[in-house]
Formats: sequence, C-alpha cells, structure tokens
Amino acid sequence: MFKTIEWKKDKVVLLDQTRLPEQEVYVECREVSELADCIRRLVIRGAPAIGVAAAMGIALGAGKIKTGDVRKFRSEVEKICTMLAATRPTAVNLFWSIDRMKKVVDVYAGMGIEVVKERLKKEALKIYREDIEINREMGKQGRELIRDGARILTHCNAGALATAGYGTALGVIRAAKGEGKKIEVFACETRPVLQGSRLTAWELKKSRIKVTVLTDGAAAFLMQKKMVDLVITGADRIAANGDSANKIGTYALAISAGAHGIPFYIAAPLSTIDVRIRSGKEIPIELRSGEEVTHIQGKRFVPQGIKAWNPAFDVTPAEYITAIITEKGIVKKPYLRNIQKIMKS
Ligand code: MRU
Repeated sequence: MFKTIEWKKDKVVLLDQTRLPEQEVYVECREVSELADCIRRLVIRGAPAIGVAAAMGIALGAGKIKTGDVRKFRSEVEKICTMLAATRPTAVNLFWSIDRMKKVVDVYAGMGIEVVKERLKKEALKIYREDIEINREMGKQGRELIRDGARILTHCNAGALATAGYGTALGVIRAAKGEGKKIEVFACETRPVLQGSRLTAWELKKSRIKVTVLTDGAAAFLMQKKMVDLVITGADRIAANGDSANKIGTYALAISAGAHGIPFYIAAPLSTIDVRIRSGKEIPIELRSGEEVTHIQGKRFVPQGIKAWNPAFDVTPAEYITAIITEKGIVKKPYLRNIQKIMKS
C-alpha cells in the first residue's frame, strides 16, 4: 500500500499526486518552503492531508531554526506558520492544524527550544495518527447508510490520498465493503485537475473496489437513468449552519441528487467544521490559475486571448445535504443545533 505522507527522520516524504496515475514517485521535502510549494502545486492535496502536511512542515521548519533565543525562535515559527497558511485558503484543516501546533509552542516555550522542537515533532505525528483513526471511525459510523449492492457516486478524491490514510468519503465506502457488502462506485472525473479519474480511480482499483469514471457533466444523467443510489463526497470546510465547501462541481451534484430523490452525504472529520463561520457565504474560495482550465498537459486548447474562471471549490447549501458523517456520529438537520451538539460531545 502507498503512503500519502510520511515523516522520515528530518524530512517529509510525499507521494507526488500530480504524477499519478502514470508514475508512483515520492518527493522528499527537507525544507518547509519545499513543503509549502508542494501544497500549493497539489503534490499533496485534500483537506485532512493538507492539515497533516502543515503540521509536519512546522515541525520540520522549527527543527531547522538555529537560535538560542526563545523570542527569536517563536517569531521564526510564526513566519513558518504564516507561509503555510498562505498556501491554500479553503480547507480549514490547514488552519486548525497550524493553531494546534502554535498551542504546543505556547505550552512548552518555557521549557526551552529543544523541548519545543521535540514536542512539535510529537504533535505532528499525533495529528497524522489521529487522522487515520478518525477516518476509520467515520467509516464505522457511515457504513450503515450503504446497503448491499449500492451504487455510489463520488466527486474529487476523498480517499487515502486526501488524508493520512483510509479516507473520508472513500473510508465510508471501504468500511461498507469491509462488511462484505457489494459496492459499485462512480467517480466524476473532476475537471480541471481530474482528481476523480486520476486519483480516486487509482486508489479504488488498488483496493479492488469496482469503479467507473464519468465526466462531471454526465452525473445528472446517471441519476436520471437510476444508475446511482447515493452520493458521498468529502468537504473542505463546513460552516456552523451545515453549508459545505467542497471541490467545484459538488454543488451541482447535490442539486441533481435532490431533484432525483437521491441522498447526498458528506463525510468529514470534526476538524473540517468551522463553527466560527456562520454560513457558507463566509467561506473563502480558492481561485486557481486559469491555465488549469485552458491547458491540458501543457497544451493550450482554448483560443488565445480567452480567459478562464477557475474556482477550486463551491459551497453546497445545507438544505441539499441529507446528512454529514463524522467520527462522532451522523449529523442530520437542523444542522445549526446538531453541529453544535456534536462539537461539544
Ligand atoms: O483541490 P483539492 O484536491 O485539495 O480538493 C480536495 C477536495 O475537494 C476533497 O473533496 C476534500 O478536501 C475532502 S478530502 C477528504
């Protein structure tokens, strides 16, 4: 089995997701700036995986700071955090993870720089291990929603590649399969970066889960043809009222699912819920380079002089979401109240 991200004695090793499925190559980051660049370029991507990468990046960067002065050390760590926070704006797991690492600095600063460095490493590895456990738990919680023989539509990649391992949406699918249920997955290709056809298809094939790829535009027709029983996706940020940001195209899937009476589920850890944000309107949406849309493998296929609009995510209003699967249980409407409840549990 592959490792999406791994801490290996003073370096962070990433499976290069820009090269999949043709090549399974690993990138070694020795500097936090290299890791930040990998997050920006989608070498590592997916909300929980970005969170783990940021934590490892802070531990890596802090370990390289050469000063005996605690104040100077803290200001250097702050700069590292600022650099990582600027990589991608939508997935809240990134900021959640940075905050958690900053707390470690606050708690241990009084014990000296070497102690803080050691503790940061420990915390990063803890975030990594916890992520896998959380995903497995989410799988156990969500598998009851999937009946034997279910045909499931998913979007983007919310699998082992998007997390420290196992996956969120794909974790629920894995857990259902693990119970002996027959499952068939339909993966939207996910334009423009093709996380569905390149990554989801790759990892499901490795796990021997039946998968068929379709263009994003074919999804509504698949539903109309009664070829799908439920939709499950991940999320990058969930507001207090349940509005959920996920890969561009998710909103269209949720509307189509609603129109066809098909349940639409989101699987996400509690670290993806941002209760400080009241509704989806406040979620910052990353706009990526138009080149991702105008070019395929370096070749332009849109007329010169034409611009592309390339939001990486959209927001699905809570009303279209049947339930949110978390590691602590399945959250249903009314989301405002039930999200508050689960966050306190
Ligand atoms: O741009 P990406 O590939 O980072 O987008 C990823 C997604 O939208 C995923 O669905 C989301 O992060 C959930 S991953 C468990």
